[in-house]
Amino acid sequence: MQKIFAANWKMYKTRAQASQGAGELASGLGQLPAGHEVVVFAPFTSISCVADAFNGKPVLSAGGQNCYPAEEGAFTGETSPAMLRDAGASWVLTGHSERRHIMGEDDALVARKTIFALEHGLNVLLCIGETLDEREAGKLNAVLEKQLSAVFSAMPGNLRGDALVGRLAVGYEPVWAIGTGKVAGPEEVLDAHAVTRALLQKLVGETANRLPILYGGSVKPNNAAGLMALDNVDGLLVGGASLEAKSFLQIIGA
Ligand code: PGA
Repeated sequence: MQKIFAANWKMYKTRAQASQGAGELASGLGQLPAGHEVVVFAPFTSISCVADAFNGKPVLSAGGQNCYPAEEGAFTGETSPAMLRDAGASWVLTGHSERRHIMGEDDALVARKTIFALEHGLNVLLCIGETLDEREAGKLNAVLEKQLSAVFSAMPGNLRGDALVGRLAVGYEPVWAIGTGKVAGPEEVLDAHAVTRALLQKLVGETANRLPILYGGSVKPNNAAGLMALDNVDGLLVGGASLEAKSFLQIIGA
């Protein structure tokens, strides 16, 4: 199974700070085991700085945090997958909870973005996750199913089965654990990742066993190893603790 350590820099870092941070990551990263990959999702303005700093290191990739599902056109403020690739990105995030809950993106738009990005040559980290209210109302499974099936039921034939392997990863991020310092406990993570794997199996069959599922939400150097040891946790998506190269490297090393 591919293992992915992803940094989500959100709306942080100028270009100079991004070059410095990505440079520190590139020089501080030791030899990774085969199949491990590190992706930094940077703000649009600094994707090229990250890509330049990573140049020539195949396990390090740059990604965008959003894209719009059209090749070009009158979409003020938006960025196409081709533009992200031109800036040096090979990955994009879709469905991050801040896009869903602050920017109001619904499942249908997340599905369009995910599929369009895959069709236009980007790998996608598709984020899903429930709010605290949804969890407390016993709706975890229903929410994850709704978010995943919106994407996979619209997936075109040429993006089914093995075509997705190495191209698509799923990030499970309980919304109540993002940026709050509240990590989901091992039982909660095990359960949600097992539910996600089972839903993926229902939607894409055996291919599901080769799609990495990342955990995200208040991942820190001191909880990374415990999370990675859990079944069905194939990587980590790190926000706050990825802003300093030192702590992100500790998470990768854990
Ligand atoms: P956090 O963010 O690690 O700061 O909780 C995770 C994310 O939003 O991807």
